[in-house]
Amino acid sequence: MSGLEDVVACDSSICRIAVEDGRGILEYRGYDIHDLAKNSSYEEVAYLLLFGDLPSKRELEKFKEELAMQRSLPAQIIGLLTHLPPFTHPMVVLRTATSYLGSMDKYIHYKSHEMSIEKSISLIAKFPTVVAYFHRIRSGQNLVHPREDLDHAANFLYMLHGEEPTETMAKCLDLDMILHAEHELNASTFAARIAASTLADIYASIVAATGTLLGPLHGGASQKVMEMLREIAVPWRAESYVREKLEKGERIMGFGHRVYRRVMDPRTLELKSLAKRLAEERNPKWYEISEAVEEAVYKYKGLLPNVDFYSASVYATLGIPDDLYVNIFAIGRISGWCAHVIEQYENNRLIRPRANYIGPERRGYIPFDERP
Ligand code: SDX
Repeated sequence: MSGLEDVVACDSSICRIAVEDGRGILEYRGYDIHDLAKNSSYEEVAYLLLFGDLPSKRELEKFKEELAMQRSLPAQIIGLLTHLPPFTHPMVVLRTATSYLGSMDKYIHYKSHEMSIEKSISLIAKFPTVVAYFHRIRSGQNLVHPREDLDHAANFLYMLHGEEPTETMAKCLDLDMILHAEHELNASTFAARIAASTLADIYASIVAATGTLLGPLHGGASQKVMEMLREIAVPWRAESYVREKLEKGERIMGFGHRVYRRVMDPRTLELKSLAKRLAEERNPKWYEISEAVEEAVYKYKGLLPNVDFYSASVYATLGIPDDLYVNIFAIGRISGWCAHVIEQYENNRLIRPRANYIGPERRGYIPFDERP
């Protein structure tokens, strides 16, 4: 089946996604995404993904302290961010910085469980700082250094905007990151596992994942969704816009899913209510256009929105620049990627599928001077 559709590539105890009784199911280490969305924090979910169980109060406090201590960047990385061209896509910046961080780790090739956990915590902690710093530098603004007294999501918004976010803004981004943290063998996670299966270092695996996420058929969709919402501009133009696109055979970004076929992505239910809450509190514009697009796509194509669709109006309402949307996805997904790399190292066999050959039959070599 093309695109490895429905091919089971490995055993994993990290995440279960399924369609059961007409519902999309998503569980991290056995915990339903709706329970985690209602009760958990991103730090607690990152701990769950890395260690396999929910933390005790003390374990969570210690984990949050470790993350907070690891947020700052070495001077060399700040130098890199200063010298990269301001037009560089922030996801290209993130994968470049990840590679540079690896080059500075003299234990880069150590893959013991403890060392892999340590490297994972460092990357989970540093991803938000890389993104916020690059945005401030390219905007000609002073760097806003990380604060250890703010939670993961709040600290990112603080570094990005230069002021403390409201409780609602911080809670909304925290929830968004929980929803983006993990999703079984999606393309970027699978890329990370393939690299890890060769026993490449964790930085190489995360660079592979970061590069893969940028594609518009994967994490890059959310930025395209926002470009679409801006083009539509008002809710009453959504139906004609969608109809014309579909009539031209074009895809509507933020819709459809390889696994959640004809059922709602469970994350979308959470993100849509999050977007509605933000719309009521701050600005209804993007949510109203999004709802009109959702109705039109279902009417003309029977497709449902995926995780990237309502993320766009959440991020726009949080004042996040369009080209940082995929980076927000990565800031959430880094914990899932690291969990999968560690799981691959611990029960490894080189990932090497076969191809169905459809090229020319065997033929004899034609010397150069006998060719037409
Ligand atoms: C993510 O895998 C994961 O878990 C990913 C993710 C995660 O958490 O890691 O969930 C995150 O990447 C979500 C997906 C973000 N991408 C987009 O929103 C891009 C737009 N969506 C599509 O390109 C598509 O739906 C995919 C890539 C998501 C899934 O594609 P499939 O499973 O390969 O489906 P397909 O291309 O075979 O399409 C099946 C049919 C086709 O119609 P026909 O040609 O058979 O008539 O559905 C149509 C497609 O044309 N279709 C769409 C469409 N998605 C599918 N038509 C219009 N717009 C769309 N978005």
